[in-house]
Amino acid sequence: MHIVFAASECVPFAKTGGLADVVGALPPELVKLGHEVTVYLPLYAVVRPHLADRWKYVIRSITIPFEYYNRFVGIVDGGKRNDVQYYFVDCPDLFDRQGLYGTPSGDYPNNWERFGLFCRAILEASKILGVPQIFHVHDWQAAILPIYLRTTYAQDPLLASAGAVLTIHNAGYQGWFPPQTTERLLLPWEIFTMDRVEQFDTFNFLKGGIVYSDMLTTVSRKYAEEIQTAEFGHNLESTLRNRAADLRGILNGVDYAQWDPATDGYLAAHYTANVLTGKQECRADLLHAFGLEPISPTTPVLGIVSRFATQKGFDILSGIADELMRRDVAVVVLGSGEAYYENFFREWAARYPGRVALQVKYDEALAHKVEAGSDIFLMPSRYEPSGLNQMYSLRYGAVPVVRATGGLDDTIEEWSPGTNPEQGTGTGFKFYGYAPGDFLAAIDRALTLFPQKAAWHRLMRNGMVKNYSWTQPARQYVEVYSEVAKRRS
Ligand code: ADP
Ligand code: GLC
Repeated sequence: MHIVFAASECVPFAKTGGLADVVGALPPELVKLGHEVTVYLPLYAVVRPHLADRWKYVIRSITIPFEYYNRFVGIVDGGKRNDVQYYFVDCPDLFDRQGLYGTPSGDYPNNWERFGLFCRAILEASKILGVPQIFHVHDWQAAILPIYLRTTYAQDPLLASAGAVLTIHNAGYQGWFPPQTTERLLLPWEIFTMDRVEQFDTFNFLKGGIVYSDMLTTVSRKYAEEIQTAEFGHNLESTLRNRAADLRGILNGVDYAQWDPATDGYLAAHYTANVLTGKQECRADLLHAFGLEPISPTTPVLGIVSRFATQKGFDILSGIADELMRRDVAVVVLGSGEAYYENFFREWAARYPGRVALQVKYDEALAHKVEAGSDIFLMPSRYEPSGLNQMYSLRYGAVPVVRATGGLDDTIEEWSPGTNPEQGTGTGFKFYGYAPGDFLAAIDRALTLFPQKAAWHRLMRNGMVKNYSWTQPARQYVEVYSEVAKRRS
């Protein structure tokens, strides 16, 4: 099969979160299974350095019409990596900017135009470069592709048999725009109804994608259930329930070529489940990188790597921030995002100098160091579609303490000592209620076990030997593609 990926992020070119990791890792895995994969991405400013010495247009100009004007888009050949073909949609006015989606003061107001153009350009380009059996589109930014495919392109003989699969990585981001977006994107007004793209008098990209795609996936089994409820559906629950028969939960995988302490190039030392000695060196290296004094080996290091967003549950962390510091712990935090959470972390670090350390930035190397140097990894998410960091933590022996939601619930099993601690089962600690007390209780369970070295090592090893590679998820995606291709043939 030929599959075209349409996405707004992909490592190593452009990343703000886990979406980029997934779009980077899944295509090569599909190629290994014998499929042909093409990935289309916007040509953002951050992509330019990757192309510097090999800028080559495969299509010089595609006309993308809007209500009162045309835009002209080039398609730049990004070449092949691991046998995956990359193409970049070049429209400097819209994409040659610092941020992917906006500036610190907010989203770009014309994101409807940026991503509408992106998706339409992919449809047009594929008619020249190769129409796939499946367009696999990711999140709201690419969700408009199936809307075009089934409305203004419905009569196109070249596209008629192409199927569309939408993966929802996060239902909290939907792409809401004014009603007039319908005609600005040259879409028919008849789709602006509650059973199609309209949501509370806005044009909702994600909703349209849900309605117009052949099948839907999301990134864990649990989240596939959760988004059909009012608590997690962000007002799309009934739209999703209508499509329940076509919705699958496929847990994300880990790219162990990038995330394995046995080979990780960012680390001060390497280690494995059997030979753990290098982890102490990584811990010392991490404390140094965060300007913390060397601390006793009996003091556990708690790590956080995260976007600072409401989703990630830091308001319940703030509820226990002082109480936690009555315990013998050190905390390192790497993240960036909303100013509100950044301020919370800054104030926390200021109150406990030498014990709580914060770095506000996006730093790939440091993210790896936090995984390797931490003893315990905290993810108190309010909701978490899949989550990758807890799976990285398992492999790095940083025992996860997580809220039992979405992919966190699917991947972390509560520690149980059994009769002999050296045979205990489970990989971490999890809590259910979204409440500071529940979070603290789970951390306390971890802190109580930490000094019991035999049991703690058993717990670490249980997590380190887990295999969340992409092999199985890739097969599950192929099943979805095959089902759609069968329906369309
Ligand atoms: P989400 O996509 O919701 O942010 P995930 O757990 O799926 O959550 O993925 C987050 C990804 O982003 C991981 O690869 C993580 O290491 C990375 N990440 C998040 N914040 C930072 C940061 N400040 N610096 C480096 N990497 C980060
Ligand atoms: C989203 C989710 C995260 C998931 C990632 C990749 O950003 O918040 O849980 O792992 O997408 O699917």
